[in-house]
Amino acid sequence: APANGLLTGKHLVITAGPTREPIDPVRYLSNHSSGKMGYALATQAKRLGAQVTLVSGPTQLAPPAGVKVINVESAQEMLAAIESVIATADVFIGCAAVADYRLAEVAGQKIKKQQDSMQLQLVRNPDILATVASRVNPPLCVGFAAETQNVAGYAEDKLKRKRLALIAANDVSDTSIGFNSDDNAMTLYWHDADGQLCQRELARAGKAQIAEAILRQVHSFLD
Ligand code: PMT
Repeated sequence: APANGLLTGKHLVITAGPTREPIDPVRYLSNHSSGKMGYALATQAKRLGAQVTLVSGPTQLAPPAGVKVINVESAQEMLAAIESVIATADVFIGCAAVADYRLAEVAGQKIKKQQDSMQLQLVRNPDILATVASRVNPPLCVGFAAETQNVAGYAEDKLKRKRLALIAANDVSDTSIGFNSDDNAMTLYWHDADGQLCQRELARAGKAQIAEAILRQVHSFLD
């Protein structure tokens, strides 16, 4: 099929970047996601004809042309933004590195130095992907898995547990791919009509090329 038009008529909602979980007015917990992978997905989806909504945590990246961008900071804000747009989505791709935990209480004032050690109490954040996948009429859901060990095992578990159509696993123990790099390499996992686990290796390439390959795989599941 020609590149243009593969996703015409489809609304893709994509998350990108890290989340920031505030500790006090001047500090936060976060991670090394740059947003490059999620922005590449949004750019390529737009190029393939889709209507694209990108819900982005804080990044240094320019908004992709022709894409609706909603900027958020925390996981809770990301979930609220997703819920405001998800009803019309055909596909949801969770590429953001969402913090699994947030502060139990955010301090209203800057925390002052006290003893030699201090403890921060954390509570679980909502799982955005699982929340979207458990809607009554869910969009086709695609997850990412960033692991440093047992990549295949954890990816397969997330595929099942979060009820996803597809999961893209990256081994982030290799710092030349994954977080903040320009290249990525992934293994895609999904179940065929008979419930058999299928997998496809995407060899190391620029994130634009990896994004296009993921979107072509997604397209094969639509209609
Ligand atoms: O942004 P870059 O620098 O380009 O790096 C890209 C990337 C490494 C961040 C990206 O390719 C990637 O792997 N993103 C997912 C990172 C992640 O948080 O993985 P996870 O295994 O912790 O989460 C699994 C899935 O659940 C992800 O789709 C995640 O978006 C989702 N999730 C996780 C926690 C949570 N509270 N809500 C979620 O929706």
